[in-house]
Amino acid sequence: MKALIIVGSRDPKGRTARSAEAVLEGLKSQGASGEVIFLTQQKIERCRQCDVDGWGICRAEGRCVIQDDFVAVVDRLRSAGAVVFANPVYFSDLSESMRAFLDRLRRICRNDAGKKGLAGKCAIGICVAGGGGGGAPACTVSMEKVLGNCGFDVVDLIPLRRQNFEMKLDVLKTTGRWLAACPSSQQQ
Ligand SMILES: Cc1cc2nc3c(=O)[nH]c(=O)nc-3n(C[C@H](O)[C@H](O)[C@H](O)COP(=O)(O)O)c2cc1C
Repeated sequence: MKALIIVGSRDPKGRTARSAEAVLEGLKSQGASGEVIFLTQQKIERCRQCDVDGWGICRAEGRCVIQDDFVAVVDRLRSAGAVVFANPVYFSDLSESMRAFLDRLRRICRNDAGKKGLAGKCAIGICVAGGGGGGAPACTVSMEKVLGNCGFDVVDLIPLRRQNFEMKLDVLKTTGRWLAACPSSQQQ
């Protein structure tokens, strides 16, 4: 099984990236593999709310009118056995890159063609509060809501804070080992 790990941080050596690496380590220990994508290295615009009613071809056709890297990331998502969203906590919430991506993803998932290969896929959300350490649990609530909107099978949401970060890395390695055999991932 190959998982896709989508990171919403800019820092390839930061806590969010290290969280992604910990899950990857767990996956690999079970013979699975993973690909890590940093959203900040992708060109992904925010939703344009195309029509006057706020919708667009997302709802009608299950695709987005904007021609940027969104399509390629969604394609990789569709072919992944499971997906992990690793997000740095900003203002107790999702980072801007994560929000921009998931805002557009949930829209195309309103359409059967758009949600093909995504609905029911095993997904995990990770929220890393690396500043004062507050807001990670609140961020997981946002994450759960938007991943649910996309139709994922949200099998876990893991808050981390600066103060428990090292301990939680062990939890993430264990999670990666478990994710390698995630029941809904085997259905893909
Ligand atoms: C705009 C902004 C808002 C932030 N808000 C919070 C917050 O609410 N709680 C917190 O603990 N850290 C906060 N931080 C710190 C980030 O959570 C911290 O940088 C995080 O660990 C991401 O680091 P990384 O990109 O190296 O993974 C904020 C950082 C930024 C840039």
